Amino acid sequence: MTNQVFTVALIPGDGIGVDVSEATMAVVEAARQKIGGFEIRTETLLAGAGYFAEHGVDVAPGVEEAAGEADAIFLGAIGLPAIRHEDGTEISPHLRLRDRFQLYAGVRPIKAYPNITQRLADPRAADIDMVIIRESTEGLFYSAAVHNRSIVIGDNEVRDTLRITRATTEKLHDFAFRLAAKRKARGGRGLVTCVDKANVFTSMAFFRKIFDERAAAFPDIEKRYNYVDAQALEFVRQPWNFDVLVMENIFGDILSDLAGGLVGGMGMACSGEFGDEHALFQPAHGSAPDIMGQDKANPLAAILSGALMLDYLAERSGTRHAADAAQAIDDAVAAGFTANRLRPMEFGGDMGTAAVTNEVIAILQGN
Ligand code: IPM
Ligand code: MG
Repeated sequence: MTNQVFTVALIPGDGIGVDVSEATMAVVEAARQKIGGFEIRTETLLAGAGYFAEHGVDVAPGVEEAAGEADAIFLGAIGLPAIRHEDGTEISPHLRLRDRFQLYAGVRPIKAYPNITQRLADPRAADIDMVIIRESTEGLFYSAAVHNRSIVIGDNEVRDTLRITRATTEKLHDFAFRLAAKRKARGGRGLVTCVDKANVFTSMAFFRKIFDERAAAFPDIEKRYNYVDAQALEFVRQPWNFDVLVMENIFGDILSDLAGGLVGGMGMACSGEFGDEHALFQPAHGSAPDIMGQDKANPLAAILSGALMLDYLAERSGTRHAADAAQAIDDAVAAGFTANRLRPMEFGGDMGTAAVTNEVIAILQGN
């Protein structure tokens, strides 16, 4: 039997993006060796704020084309607060990649693991297991993806447009309902919550209207609504009562950090960004330049994003091996926390990037 070959465009980027990308590829390789049946060919691509500072452009020549040709894109983290465009914004070629490849469904799972610092006193916080679907190409980020979309009126006024289109929103809500159905088949609640601000904005009422239209095709999935301000409150009061939540871009950006905090911190915040033809995987945290290269970063958000990537590669190819490798990584992380073998510094533990990575690999290898 021949091995399935997958190509991955690897963009380590800036700061700890480099550290956690390396950790992820080591774990992915260990999982691949354990399961077999597929190969990963990685092409490392240069992009980011550091690259911008040196070359005046945020990606090396050919990077976007190469990313488009790969089966999947993996991104460490991009951005350095000290390096900015003239308008004051940070260097974010990632936003352009989302736009270019129409990665509309930003999937951000939030799951509690044992032995991580509890942020909420209520013991039910141990049951937190939800997924934020953040629309990632339009909403208030529509203007940000491509710089000249902002309307700048001299030095007196700037307008950024919040854009909701029917075409993207239909696909987004379908994605959310399909995910809820998939989770329900594995014991999930079968609930999708539409998070919006339909009480105030016409664009948000439109977002909710399309949610209702698409929900009709999923009679087995319960639908609910929450205004975004109320959702922030509910995330603190009872996050264990949510399953899949679907929302506009900036709402998802903000609430996914809040939700990451509920289960420990951004070092657990994995993500996958899906379009119809392409997908990009990244930890949702930033580049944390203050701790870069010091073996302090928690690589688990990136490692869990690597598992999401393997799962996607399996599904895309119609083969099983990479999905088994993804499951092996998820199981190793869960087992590691349960046995208190994973103690990232982020949560006051004694384990740096390399120690956490090596421990996940050891568990994968059955040690
Ligand atoms: C995220 C990040 C990015 C975003 C930044 C780094 C451009 O915060 O993935 O959530 O705003 O989308
Ligand atoms: Mg963010």
